[in-house]
Amino acid sequence: MATKPHILHRESFPRSNSYDPEWIMDHQMGPNPLWLAEWLWGVLDLKPGMRVLDLGCGTALTSMFFAKEFDVQVWATDLWVHPDENWRRIDEQGLGDRVFPVRAEAHALPFAAGFFDAVISVDAYQYFGTDRLYLGYISRFLKGLGKIGIVVPGLMQSFDGAVPEHLLQPQANGVAFWEDECRSFLTTGEWRRLWERSGRISLQGADEMPDGWKLWRDFEAALEQSGKNRFPSVAEALDWDQGRYLGFVRLVGIRENMDDFLNLYDPGVISTLDKMAE
Ligand SMILES: C[S@@+](CC[C@H](N)C(=O)[O-])C[C@H]1O[C@@H](n2cnc3c(N)ncnc32)[C@H](O)[C@@H]1O
Repeated sequence: MATKPHILHRESFPRSNSYDPEWIMDHQMGPNPLWLAEWLWGVLDLKPGMRVLDLGCGTALTSMFFAKEFDVQVWATDLWVHPDENWRRIDEQGLGDRVFPVRAEAHALPFAAGFFDAVISVDAYQYFGTDRLYLGYISRFLKGLGKIGIVVPGLMQSFDGAVPEHLLQPQANGVAFWEDECRSFLTTGEWRRLWERSGRISLQGADEMPDGWKLWRDFEAALEQSGKNRFPSVAEALDWDQGRYLGFVRLVGIRENMDDFLNLYDPGVISTLDKMAE
């Protein structure tokens, strides 16, 4: 008798389907990172052996996914999750020759300029990338014509001022969807404008995940059901919303402008300027 597919099985994510859903849920830090990574992969054109920076990788699930699926080398870089912890996970999966855990803050990355073929970021870029100067900074780590691709939770339409009532309303578990950090959620148009004015990256595409809210809701519901949720579930609020405001935004761009420029996040910037003036 055929076994029933897991509730997280989705025809649209064949690669993610081959991973143990319990393992994904055990290590999640939010919406299913493999679904988001698989969606992102579609616009990246990665080739075996490429060097990839996974920025804000969390528990490194996306780093391992990219290394395994596309035979790339990934620098799994994160702030909150300790690299010792990520190394254990990476080693367990036999990916120690391709995934390298690094602890770093997104404005102080310990990498050489031009080192990466691609920068990816899944459900993390919203924490630091809404600063208009940030895309210029991160682009310095890309080779010429290297790609940056991100997926972030975002707004499907903007609202002026007041947050929609249903996003502030406490769910049955007592928790409302909207937290202070949600102020970093932007619409596709807002992200597009931010990237178009960077002067360093040529935007190739900006779009919304079809039925992203449903996938987000379904993953939250599965976590709730399994008791594996790390944070209070937001499934009910996503259901109230029905994708009117909440979903996922994807952006991809290519590094075009190779001019050197000042790293304004470098505490040594003044001495660099002084030396240039000498
Ligand atoms: C919601 S988690 C998502 C993790 C992972 N990408 C995933 O999808 O499971 C956001 C991650 O962004 C990282 N992050 C937030 N602010 C950061 C910063 N300033 N520099 C580097 N990483 C940051 C955190 O360490 C955290 O692991």
